Amino acid sequence: MTDQMKTKIDSIRLEAETAFKAAENSRDLYELKVKFLGKTGSFQSVMKEMGSLPPAEKPIAGKLVNEAKQALEGTYSECEERLKARELEAKLKSEMLDLTLPGVPVSRGAEHPVSLVMDEIAMILSRMGYSIRTGPVIETDRNNFEGLNVPKDHPARDMQDTFYIDEHHVLRTQTSPIQIRTMETEKPPIRVAAPGGVFRCDADISHSPNFHQIEGLCIDKKVSMADLKGTITFFVGEFFGRGLKTRFRPSFFPFTEPSAEVDCQCPLCKGKGCRMCSMSGWIEIGGCGLVHPNVLKFAGLDAKEWQGFAFGFGIERMGIIKYGINDIRLFNENDVRFLSQFSM
Ligand code: DAH
Repeated sequence: MTDQMKTKIDSIRLEAETAFKAAENSRDLYELKVKFLGKTGSFQSVMKEMGSLPPAEKPIAGKLVNEAKQALEGTYSECEERLKARELEAKLKSEMLDLTLPGVPVSRGAEHPVSLVMDEIAMILSRMGYSIRTGPVIETDRNNFEGLNVPKDHPARDMQDTFYIDEHHVLRTQTSPIQIRTMETEKPPIRVAAPGGVFRCDADISHSPNFHQIEGLCIDKKVSMADLKGTITFFVGEFFGRGLKTRFRPSFFPFTEPSAEVDCQCPLCKGKGCRMCSMSGWIEIGGCGLVHPNVLKFAGLDAKEWQGFAFGFGIERMGIIKYGINDIRLFNENDVRFLSQFSM
């Protein structure tokens, strides 16, 4: 009887050993362990059979089973160690990270040239003591025209082709209404710069229906044309480069008296004459003048006590001159080949 039992135990042991060694991964191996050594495994049925053996043979059979199980546990551990090592190696290989490889490049955006120029001008003016103010693009007729000494039905309205929203509102044609807004809410002395988008019913190679301006306003006591010229000449030097001359030509704006147009020496040819300045050596950059007493009065200031000067520059125009751009429409076309040239 014991011989028969021994043969059975040996055969299970051999079968289990062969299966353990052939297992391809640690999971299969574990399942085999359960199959042979587990609570309902092959050895358990042998143990049950042992119950029917004569009492003298039971310990012998029991010993045989224990020896076989112990040996199999050993084989299992060896196989498990080998498979786990192999699996770890495969995992490390598949997850390998080469930290010396270059990263995936992230494409970077660039500031729009209009914002770039507007910010630069605003920065220069704030260094000169001007605070930044803004206003709405849908403006009242009162602030955009009437307060600026352009009454209804006055011929001066023809200077600016206008988008009317209704009888009392327009898409602002200039940043000058921010002069009115500021003087009506702040006490002088005032030094403000107001950048922003403006709109005119007008379009060709040098005019866009939507463009940008920056307005400057200085209100103080005893302000003169000399202060205005000094301010603008200094500003032009900061923006285009020091050493460029400015000149002031008499002109007309309803909200200033006297009024002038400002030219600066062409930054491209330094005044020698080139295609950009139509061979004249000079380029017009904006308008300016001493604030008209009617404007001061409208905004509630005593024109005997306070004087002031104002100026307005076109942002796109300043960018066109500084960067040698040949068509104002490029600013609104969203062509990345144009825009990316301004990335830093
Ligand atoms: N607002 C004027 C325009 O759009 C520009 C301008 C001229 C502004 C003279 C001023 C100024 O403040 O004093 O044509």
